[in-house]
Amino acid sequence: MSLSTFPFMTRSYPMNRSRWFAALTVLMVLALSVSTFAFQNSRRGGIREGRAARGERVMPKHENSFYYKADGSFNEEAGRQAFEELFRFHRYSLAKTVLDAAPNSSLAGDKLWILDFNLGDFSNVGMAGIFFVNDKEHGYFGHEIYLLPYQMIPEHWHVAAEDKPAKHEVWQVRNGSVWCFAEGGSEADLDALPVEVKNAMKSQLDAKAITAFQAKELKVGDMLPLSGLDRKHFMMAGPNGAIVTEYASFHAASGLKFSNPDGKVGNTEAKKAE
Ligand SMILES: [Fe+2]
Repeated sequence: MSLSTFPFMTRSYPMNRSRWFAALTVLMVLALSVSTFAFQNSRRGGIREGRAARGERVMPKHENSFYYKADGSFNEEAGRQAFEELFRFHRYSLAKTVLDAAPNSSLAGDKLWILDFNLGDFSNVGMAGIFFVNDKEHGYFGHEIYLLPYQMIPEHWHVAAEDKPAKHEVWQVRNGSVWCFAEGGSEADLDALPVEVKNAMKSQLDAKAITAFQAKELKVGDMLPLSGLDRKHFMMAGPNGAIVTEYASFHAASGLKFSNPDGKVGNTEAKKAE
């Protein structure tokens, strides 16, 4: 084989200067196209796709269009489907217990609930959970928190209610990871975190409903207590969502307060006709 000819062709094409130049030009155009595609892909969240291409498992993150009906109301069935994906992804040991739980089947009489907190941004702001136990007499509480990729619980705090002190909490990550946010810091501190974190907070930042900017990342097994009674706080899941166990004192629904004035324990309803 000679470097001066292309060996796979049936007839010989002697390589002169102009043919070498043409071949090099084609190769350079191809290389430029590949690098441009890779850059654009990473800007579109293609980092997740890139990781998947390397064989790493990545949880899908659905857009809001997946979770809301044509009338604007939150589609709980779509939310449930996403959390079933989360449970399968993490091979969650309690998946069947939680998904099959009917009201009154747990000690707290709870079942799996799925909330967008009436904020209309479930892809980024919402959660699912179940109260395994909430004992007012003895003052203890067991709760599992489920968060989809880069999904946050809206900022909130707990006050004394029902003749009980403000709820205190400790969180422990079972699967995935979270960033826990405590009072302090400023919005500029978010720049130290992956850009997806700030992007997912956009609706709450725009609503000026975030004041807790001190972030701490928790991975599997890590624990963190609430920074203090009555303190504002929230958490956001990492790229593959999170399953978090919460240990706490008695949870009084009437003692739960949201920083966003539209926030409530409920879901977005259909828009009323004008
Ligand atoms: Fe809380």
